[in-house]
Amino acid sequence: MTLTDPAADLAPLEFAVTRNLAARSAAERDEILAAPGFGTNFTDHMVDICWSKGGGWHRPRVQPYGPISLDPAAAVLHYGQEIFEGIKAYRHADGSVHTFRPDQNAKRLQRSARRMALPELPEDYFLQSLRELIAVDGDWVPSGEDQSLYLRPFMFAKEAFLGVRPAQKVAYYLIASPAGAYFKGGVQPVKIWLSEDYARAGKGGTGAAKTGGNYAASLLPQAEAYEQGCDQVVFLDQDGNVEELGGMNVVFVHKDGTIVTPQSDSILPGITRDSILQLAEDRGHRVERRAVSLQEWRDGVASGEIVEVFACGTAAVVTPIGTLLAAGFEDAQPTGTLALELRQHLTDIQYGRAEDTHGWLTRLDG
Ligand code: PLP
Ligand code: COI
Repeated sequence: MTLTDPAADLAPLEFAVTRNLAARSAAERDEILAAPGFGTNFTDHMVDICWSKGGGWHRPRVQPYGPISLDPAAAVLHYGQEIFEGIKAYRHADGSVHTFRPDQNAKRLQRSARRMALPELPEDYFLQSLRELIAVDGDWVPSGEDQSLYLRPFMFAKEAFLGVRPAQKVAYYLIASPAGAYFKGGVQPVKIWLSEDYARAGKGGTGAAKTGGNYAASLLPQAEAYEQGCDQVVFLDQDGNVEELGGMNVVFVHKDGTIVTPQSDSILPGITRDSILQLAEDRGHRVERRAVSLQEWRDGVASGEIVEVFACGTAAVVTPIGTLLAAGFEDAQPTGTLALELRQHLTDIQYGRAEDTHGWLTRLDG
């Protein structure tokens, strides 16, 4: 199904820019950037683009960050027709601002849109939206170690209509939030809770789309994980195969150097995972994308066949998994050096400290 009017997408967008007269002072901004945390502070502006059936993409704006006014009957509030992305802007030593593989996030947003019957935002508009926000809020890209500006593009059904069908009025927004480490402990190995009572996704469901409903379904098991003293929850599919964590992919390193990661239609195909697996292949590691059962994981750890397990995603980067906890067992996970080496290589590329041999960086400022 194509919900986008192709003719409406030919012209480049002309953004109307309204500056935020209440923008934070440089001192206020610096105070936030000194300890940004994750997802709690937002920059002074946001981008939005409207879409309607027949009118296509229109009214591109950069406006002061602030509440969105929605009709109480807006479809997203009732049926959850919503998708989002997560991507970061990095400040290099020379002050320039770059992002990482934005074409991949743009394409994934389009795939998520197709699954959720939302219009596909053209890749150029996606990139343009990032540039427009950096043009006004570029000073919000922190320069501290492992810090970045987390960019959150999202799209939702805003049509006021309670019938159950794809909305004919949609909004795309981009907001930004300065970010430090996602986990409180930084890159210390994390403890993972195995969700045995709840599933995140199912066959033919929306697991491969980045849509709010998947995260809504993960909140109760994630709360259980916190109660159990864990940082994240890991989900299994109906056959007992490992899927992924609530907000990141999972990767296993075998003793012969082979790297294995779950592959299925119900997992979000992570761009971080794809990138680090590429870097690992460049170093001569063999990579397998295939089903991994919980039994294989547990047996592999017990026998020494699996030598490292780690989580990866835009927010978490690469974080070793130190413990797998379930109702009936607690398995300490072996930790090695590969996860942290790959993390270092990836972040060296992202921050401009290592050569970008795959052409993954896109400059956003200037
Ligand atoms: N899986 C889930 C459920 C996620 O939320 C994320 C984070 O975006 C990932 C995997 C990793 O994807 P990426 O590396 O593209 O951020
Ligand atoms: C991301 O890594 O971008 C995500 O969306 C995951 C979430 C845990 C913040």
